[in-house]
Amino acid sequence: MDPATHDGRDRAEAGAPAGDEALIDQVRRFWDADAETYDHSATHWPQSPAEEAAWTALLRAALPDPPARVLDVGAGTGFLTLPAASLGHETLALDLSPAMLGVLVRKARAAQLGVATRVAVADAPPPGPFDAVMCRHLLWTLPDPVAALTAWRAAAPHGQLLVVEGAWGGGEPGQAWRQQARRALRWVQRRRPAHHGTYDPAVWEALPLGDGTDPSVLVEAVRRAGWRDVALSRLHDVEWARLRPRPAPERWLGPVPQFAVRAR
Ligand SMILES: C[S@@+](CC[C@H](N)C(=O)[O-])C[C@H]1O[C@@H](n2cnc3c(N)ncnc32)[C@H](O)[C@@H]1O
Repeated sequence: MDPATHDGRDRAEAGAPAGDEALIDQVRRFWDADAETYDHSATHWPQSPAEEAAWTALLRAALPDPPARVLDVGAGTGFLTLPAASLGHETLALDLSPAMLGVLVRKARAAQLGVATRVAVADAPPPGPFDAVMCRHLLWTLPDPVAALTAWRAAAPHGQLLVVEGAWGGGEPGQAWRQQARRALRWVQRRRPAHHGTYDPAVWEALPLGDGTDPSVLVEAVRRAGWRDVALSRLHDVEWARLRPRPAPERWLGPVPQFAVRAR
């Protein structure tokens, strides 16, 4: 594949229902504004060679042998796309935010990696066929996660699925107070927040997983979308590699559980 390319495709071309336009526009504006600082947060880009290697191990295990055609949905600045391309996969990074993809393209060029990009909404992927579809930290922000998972199934009829999420929501035992403590610690240490702002309350209300991605709910959504052999695993290696270089107060609070849902 050629070095990083950027082919535009907007929601109108993708044929999405007009009713969602305002919501999608708000979400796009949020991520466009977040793009230049997104990678500054410790959870938005691997912080050590060990963490990078832990993510690579996951991709090696979850994707077919390279070179495979891999679609990364909600690719952002390339958290999964770039390591997948490094493994020799033909990767297509899809995202509704041109600015997030712009950062991804810059990083791909710097690393001399061939990555194709497409501006589109998650439930309107190109027809494929893909050998694998993956996403990380995306489903919580979709108005209809099952519709997106169903569209990916159609785009990869014989392919594999990898969904990576973090159990940051209030429904995860022990996480609500830990999140508050992490926020307080960040404030005391004068570290910048993970994002430039937050979604409008009306946007949160339209997101069925906006309160957090419960693993059981996610497994059910993947099944309802027609995927088979659905398997859940906790990403202990990633959590360990991520937490061990952090300062003591953060280590005491423990990790935000990271997990993967895989299917065929
Ligand atoms: C939390 S970021 C995750 C980015 C990247 N996957 C990562 O792991 O760092 C969520 C990404 O999903 C994108 N996104 C949000 N809603 C989307 C939608 N409906 N369709 C496509 N992309 C979307 C955002 O633009 C953003 O880049």
